[in-house]
Amino acid sequence: MLRLRPFRQRQLPLTDRWFADADTQRWLGGPGWPGLILDLHKRPLGEYRGAVETGRYSWLAWDGDTAVGYVGCETYDRCTTWDGSPDGRGVVKTLPVPTANLSYVVDPALRRQGYGTSIIAALMASSQITHVSLFVAGVEPANTGSISCLLKNGFQPLDPAPDWEGTVYYAGERI
Ligand SMILES: CC(C)(COP(=O)(O)OP(=O)(O)OC[C@H]1O[C@@H](n2cnc3c(N)ncnc32)[C@H](O)[C@@H]1OP(=O)(O)O)[C@@H](O)C(=O)NCCC(=O)NCCS
Repeated sequence: MLRLRPFRQRQLPLTDRWFADADTQRWLGGPGWPGLILDLHKRPLGEYRGAVETGRYSWLAWDGDTAVGYVGCETYDRCTTWDGSPDGRGVVKTLPVPTANLSYVVDPALRRQGYGTSIIAALMASSQITHVSLFVAGVEPANTGSISCLLKNGFQPLDPAPDWEGTVYYAGERI
């Protein structure tokens, strides 16, 4: 099992190469993304797409002394499905269960060795978010690697049709 340890500002250089990678930029974000996330996590909790934020977490995943990837989540009091299309209906569905919304990336040099799958499993097992019962990740359908990692952890699409942003949300329950 990988160990998750809090991601600190001083560790940003460790992730530079990960976020310079073309696939990371395509599916998650570019070089500014991790700094932005750490800044965002200092702000007071608020509301997002009709759900009340209950926490924010960022970790590096370590295999021994090697940082192999990043995983983080925002937690909410419920799971909402949001329609932000031009005719904007807002919240169209609510599951009233404590939910975590996941993001993750693996060091490009270490991909396809099982770390992506293990990082998600480690987050779901984290003792810091035992209050969460539903884990959700938004993925674009062409991101087959990410989808495989989620399916291997028992996630299933909430709705297989991409939403107004072209995203499919996969959800997994705490086992
Ligand atoms: C998605 C990502 C986390 C996967 O990490 P990983 O360590 O390669 O994942 P795993 O090794 O656990 O792979 C799980 C399965 O997906 C497959 N897979 C991984 N990357 C793949 C790719 N690019 N294309 C097709 N299949 C892929 C693996 O072969 C494995 O399947 P197998 O066990 O049947 O061989 C990694 O590619 C990444 O960081 N991508 C950029 C950021 C990103 O997309 N984050 C998610 C945003 S939703």
